[in-house]
Amino acid sequence: MEAQIFVSDDSKVFHLTNGSFSYIFQCLPDGHLSHLWSGKAVRPDAQYTHFHEIYPRPMTSCPNENSWYSQEHTAQEYGTFGSSDFRSPALEIRHPDGSTLSDFRLKSWTIQEGKPALKRLPATYCEDSTEAKTLECTLWDEKNNLELVLSYTIFSRGNVIARNSRLINHGQQPVYATDVQSLCLDLPDNDYEWMQFSGAWGRERHLKNRKLEQGITAIGSRRGHSSHNHNPVVLLKRPYTDETQGEAFGIALVYSGNFQIQAECDTYDQTRILAGIHPDGFSWKLEFEEEFQSPEALLVWTDQGLNDLSQTFHALFQKRLARGYWRDRPRPILNNNWEATMFDFDEETLVKIASKAKECGVELFVLDDGWFGDRRNDKAGLGDWVANPTLLPHGIAGLSKRIHELGMEMGLWFEPEMVNKDSNLYRQHPDWILEVPGRTPCQGRNQFVLDFSRQEVVEAIYTMMCAILDEADLSYIKWDMNRSITDCYSSALPADRQPETAHRYILGVYQLYERLIQRYPKILFESCASGGGRFDPGMLYYAPQAWCSDDSDAIERLKIQYGTSYAYPISSIGAHISEIPNQQVYRNVPLHTRANVACFGTSGYELDLNSLAEDELEQVKEQISFMKKNRELLQFGKFYRLQSPFDGNVTSWMVVSKDQKEAIVGWYRTLSHANQPASKIRLQGLDPNCRYTITTQGCHPYQNHRPYGDELMNIGLITSDGLCGQVGVMDKYYGDFDSRLFLIKAVEPEELLV
Ligand code: DGJ
Repeated sequence: MEAQIFVSDDSKVFHLTNGSFSYIFQCLPDGHLSHLWSGKAVRPDAQYTHFHEIYPRPMTSCPNENSWYSQEHTAQEYGTFGSSDFRSPALEIRHPDGSTLSDFRLKSWTIQEGKPALKRLPATYCEDSTEAKTLECTLWDEKNNLELVLSYTIFSRGNVIARNSRLINHGQQPVYATDVQSLCLDLPDNDYEWMQFSGAWGRERHLKNRKLEQGITAIGSRRGHSSHNHNPVVLLKRPYTDETQGEAFGIALVYSGNFQIQAECDTYDQTRILAGIHPDGFSWKLEFEEEFQSPEALLVWTDQGLNDLSQTFHALFQKRLARGYWRDRPRPILNNNWEATMFDFDEETLVKIASKAKECGVELFVLDDGWFGDRRNDKAGLGDWVANPTLLPHGIAGLSKRIHELGMEMGLWFEPEMVNKDSNLYRQHPDWILEVPGRTPCQGRNQFVLDFSRQEVVEAIYTMMCAILDEADLSYIKWDMNRSITDCYSSALPADRQPETAHRYILGVYQLYERLIQRYPKILFESCASGGGRFDPGMLYYAPQAWCSDDSDAIERLKIQYGTSYAYPISSIGAHISEIPNQQVYRNVPLHTRANVACFGTSGYELDLNSLAEDELEQVKEQISFMKKNRELLQFGKFYRLQSPFDGNVTSWMVVSKDQKEAIVGWYRTLSHANQPASKIRLQGLDPNCRYTITTQGCHPYQNHRPYGDELMNIGLITSDGLCGQVGVMDKYYGDFDSRLFLIKAVEPEELLV
């Protein structure tokens, strides 16, 4: 059913539903909004207001005389600070009289087809207005003339509600918003496991779960970027929920700066979820008629297991968050020179690498860090976006011409937000970095952060980038960001606006991205922040793919890519084949396994193919032709997690085509063990009544057998090594770090007759 928003005139109940998901709240007689239900759909023509508990409890504070009603015991739609609700608030404002208590009551609401865009911020969108409906509730704090607009969009397809909030000051005196969350959701119980995707540089988005308990469970970032440490996505699942069945919520913040997502379980087993900009160090001054717009938060729900929840995220992020020319296009297979050369290259080295790559079938050559200014190591050059004439005598334009002559596209690395002190940009504009006057700012990788909250800084970087992009024929940009933000002080802002700097900075980043993608709509952007330090939904709005991690070891990547897949589509995951021993963990993973992991992503090579032996080059050619043939399926098929690297020695996952006629299963075994038992995995998403052929690397027991989908899904696909009985055939694959791809194809009716 199409998304609908019902409002009952008598009880002022707002019911957003698409037939499988319901989100219901009510305006109470005093004008406060109270949450009633979010979860499996219920009929819109029934009453649900009896779920409000008004119950005498000791230590209760009650806003109204002669009433036991308390905000503490009532699910709130957007809890505010200072009255009878003692939970963490969604909104906190410092008013002109110094008080921090707000009292917002519903004044009016509007319902519109589709979904309005957010000013200056990334957000999901509709392509036609039947895809969603949007409810905007306007609340008012009479005492201080403040308007609060709570926006809810329900999508027709996928159980998704997109939310944001906007605060406008109509009072004559300035107020300071010190906490404006994008989403507040009060759930009636706390029987959930919290799943977060956390880690560090080189081990991003590892799954960590724990049971919710009374108190606060939270993740967040105060690093100025969403960070390697925590990702702005959290899942809450029922204890019985697994990949294939059960209820779960997903919460994601479409934002790339400081954030928090938290769950607070109170004394009465209720759970409040908050998601938004991290309130630490944040405040936003609102003068008369100024407004603050929060980022968008997404609430996704399923009762069909975590794969279903992830698939909803994937479809949304892939089709209604990512935009532009590359959104639906299979991505080019690239060769990036970073791990091959680091800073040690010149034009001839690069052309040599690119020539070999072309010979193997690579389509895009990417020149990484080190091509500009005086950059021969990480101590100089950032900020000077002009080609180094010693390394590249013909500039980027000259190099790109040679790359095109080879028959390839060319891409280029930038780190627009940063500057080295040893650069012309810094020498000309030492005041353009974030730093507190009179204090020594922290360096990170010898670099400093440009003050992107300042328009002239964004302008200067834009001009330099355009000069390169206008003269050279480039079709890809890798936008890197290699340090966290400290000393977050802008010399262009007055003292009381300093806590706005971090958010203004990220708005500056978004602005530069937006201007570049508008001016160069066919350039493919890949975001990056020392690997996956800004792999977040906000970035996907500008760059449809992101470099997943600087850890390119295939075994390490199993956990990183598996964790990433809980929210992010395969088409967004930058995954490359690199050399051995691996530069991050010194592990020797066989070439076939490196490719079998990297092909579940936007694939490429992160090495100099000239260093490979002839037989390895033959393998690379086969890998590339396989990826070209199958990348549409691999990057845009329906992705299912089958066996988790967080649970054991074997990882597996699969993609299935829309028509269920093709699937590819990736199976990976970390360590080999002697005399292993027979093994199989239950597949997902196939047509139970369809027969399939199965081919894989090496021998396997399906050479003369065409199983039905129900066999593969209910009994399983055999993954044991030795079952075909041809001793020796598989020997080269035995050992640690082994893997297989199983290619599954529906048998056409005429083939069945043969
Ligand atoms: C960090 C990135 O993640 C790497 O891929 C590479 O681009 C380096 N920065 C270059 O400095």
